[in-house]
Amino acid sequence: MKRFSELMAGQTLLPIIQADSVEQGILIAKAMANAELKVVEVVLRSESSLETLTAIKEELPELVVGAGTVLDKHILAEALLAKPDYIVTPCCTPDLLRALVDSNVVALPGVANCADIALARDAGFPELKLFPASLAGGIPFLKAVSSVFQDTSFCPTGGINADNKNDFLALPNVVAVGGTWVAKKEWVEAENWEAITQACCAANL
Ligand code: 3PG
Repeated sequence: MKRFSELMAGQTLLPIIQADSVEQGILIAKAMANAELKVVEVVLRSESSLETLTAIKEELPELVVGAGTVLDKHILAEALLAKPDYIVTPCCTPDLLRALVDSNVVALPGVANCADIALARDAGFPELKLFPASLAGGIPFLKAVSSVFQDTSFCPTGGINADNKNDFLALPNVVAVGGTWVAKKEWVEAENWEAITQACCAANL
């Protein structure tokens, strides 16, 4: 099975799509694709999220589209029906990790401490989402665990922004950073798709 970093193929920004409707989700994804981004994550936080994911895959077949905010094995089972290219979870439990392994889909499980990392590592996941990165220790935490979990890499998400993302990306155990700051709610509400494209371009340098 491919690793998350292989899907990213050098892309260092994992932009998050939070949409209130399918149409809005497609427009956000198009704005991201216009910034030459190839991988996006649709978070499952509204009634229409899975429909949005499917529509983005149909409309923009060149994009690699993941499903995020997968909290448990039941949500995972629903998410898999939309055929996401990968799965992101904000947390991990033995049940969820087992279901991720069984799904055979590329996955980025979420961790917030050393016990979580050990659990995910035991389940066979060498690449993990650190969430919420800014509250779960941020850069000092990632530096501290680099010498202990030498075979583990991270995609910090939660509290990442234009000002701190380069400091995270400078760490050898960080493969990418994720976040919503490149598709701010106010831009989406104002239908300012160009602002999203520009923020994505600036963030993926
Ligand atoms: C997530 O789903 O990973 C978080 O909502 C991202 O956090 P952010 O909004 O601080 O980028």
